[in-house]
Amino acid sequence: MKTVITFGTYDLFHIGHLRILQRGRQLGDRLVVGISTDELNFSKKGIKPIFSLAERVEIISALSCVDEVFPEESLELKGDYIKAYKADILVMGDDWQGKFDCHKSLCEVIYLPRTSGISSTLIKDHMIKMGAKPL
Ligand code: CTP
Repeated sequence: MKTVITFGTYDLFHIGHLRILQRGRQLGDRLVVGISTDELNFSKKGIKPIFSLAERVEIISALSCVDEVFPEESLELKGDYIKAYKADILVMGDDWQGKFDCHKSLCEVIYLPRTSGISSTLIKDHMIKMGAKPL
């Protein structure tokens, strides 16, 4: 049984999110996803996600390529999460290229190419340009 672990916010769930989760799952037998908490996002980016942690957890959990989800409380705990879930492979998008190589002693670390032209930030910016009021 090969376990793959990955992490993200997955706000305003989009095709880039779906593809990286599907490709991650194909690398093993079980995909575990750490979903960053609202507080972690606020501390990282200064804004809260549009969708709450509970909503993001519900969406990601419903995907057939995802076996288990958990809240990612801190960026510093990745090594602990990798050990706790007995992950064999850590998958991240290549916007993180090299950033998690420090975990190579715990598991294989694979960076997959991002889907071009889409991100949660781009969707939010686009909606604001279209006249949506920031929440
Ligand atoms: N991802 C991807 N392709 C995209 C956007 C994201 O493969 N176009 C991947 C990221 O590399 C990461 C995972 O999806 O491994 C979760 O990314 P997240 O930061 O939640 O998504 P973004 O849309 O990039 O969000 P933001 O704009 O807030 O940075």
